[in-house]
Amino acid sequence: MSETLILGIETSCDETAAAVVADGNKMHSNIIASQIDDHCKFGGVVPEIASRKHLEIINDVMAQALAEAGITFADLSAIAVTHGPGLVGALLVGVNAAKTLAYALDKPLVAVNHIFSHVAANFLVHDIEFPAVCLVVSGGHTSLLYMTSRFDAVLLGATRDDAAGEAFDKVARVLGLGYPGGPAVDRVARDGDPAAFAFPRAFSGQDEVFNFSFSGLKSAVINTLHNLRQKNEDVNTADVAASFQHAVVEILVEKTRAAARAKQAQTVLLAGGVAANSLLRRRLAQALEQDGRRLLYPPMELCTDNAAMVAAAGYDLFKRQKFAGLDLNATPVLDINRHLSY
Ligand code: KG4
Ligand code: ZN
Repeated sequence: MSETLILGIETSCDETAAAVVADGNKMHSNIIASQIDDHCKFGGVVPEIASRKHLEIINDVMAQALAEAGITFADLSAIAVTHGPGLVGALLVGVNAAKTLAYALDKPLVAVNHIFSHVAANFLVHDIEFPAVCLVVSGGHTSLLYMTSRFDAVLLGATRDDAAGEAFDKVARVLGLGYPGGPAVDRVARDGDPAAFAFPRAFSGQDEVFNFSFSGLKSAVINTLHNLRQKNEDVNTADVAASFQHAVVEILVEKTRAAARAKQAQTVLLAGGVAANSLLRRRLAQALEQDGRRLLYPPMELCTDNAAMVAAAGYDLFKRQKFAGLDLNATPVLDINRHLSY
């Protein structure tokens, strides 16, 4: 039987990406053009610049993805594209490219939820035994899912305010570590004392057992820095970064461990940009190992935005014939529950 070849397209934020994936798990190409250099001088992603850069480069990125996979457009089984959540102008570039291809080639179009595509990055590198609990931690989202297959998932809890990655980015900014903040905090924290500051951990109680809140922690870090600076006291950046990171990781580990226990899931998946965090990987793996469970996560390059994960998630929609129409639009605000009910 011939392979199912899916072209994935991702333009939800500041990476223009296209990839070809066979049968939902074999990566034939994975092209990522990052715009980080265009945005870092502004301290964050500038939506207008992101859209323009996507537009300039999307055709080349798609052509490269096909060339590297050694196929032509005619060989594709379907086109999968991120339609949300994300920056509306940025999403529109990918959505319109995908719709144009689907129309011109007369191929099925599938619309992929960006948050769920992060989960699917794991499908590219692991054989997963279900049921599994998945912690999705990215720049815009923090959620815990219970999954009984690649496709079937229910939401156990999510952040009530800021996402974990957002907190990393804000704290990095006030510490003067630049953008993107997560990798910088991760690096600087290695030389710091995680017990130097006692930052608050929210929602440790029973009622909010699988929900998260990071805005109080973020404000506590900002206030601490403000007070130290007002008193002209030295700020030990490494200590602040280490104490903050320690607090975030402790919350994420505690809740993920509790979810895996409650659901008796032997497998735990980690997904999203913050899954690249070295302390989170280490501490979560240790905690789960003590409980006899297995932690799986994607390699670094598949944790942050890419299109191979979009093609992998798109494969399951394609198999279930969950096709999108040519009236597909960018959906900047899109709950993960929307994917769960496709
Ligand atoms: O998943 P992603 O590429 O974009 C979204 O869908 O949001 O995640 C980007 C986020 C940023 O907030 C970035 O600071 C964070 O992931 N991140 C990290 C690390 N690498 C990236 N956070 C903590 N530690 C890291 N090593
Ligand atoms: Zn992302």
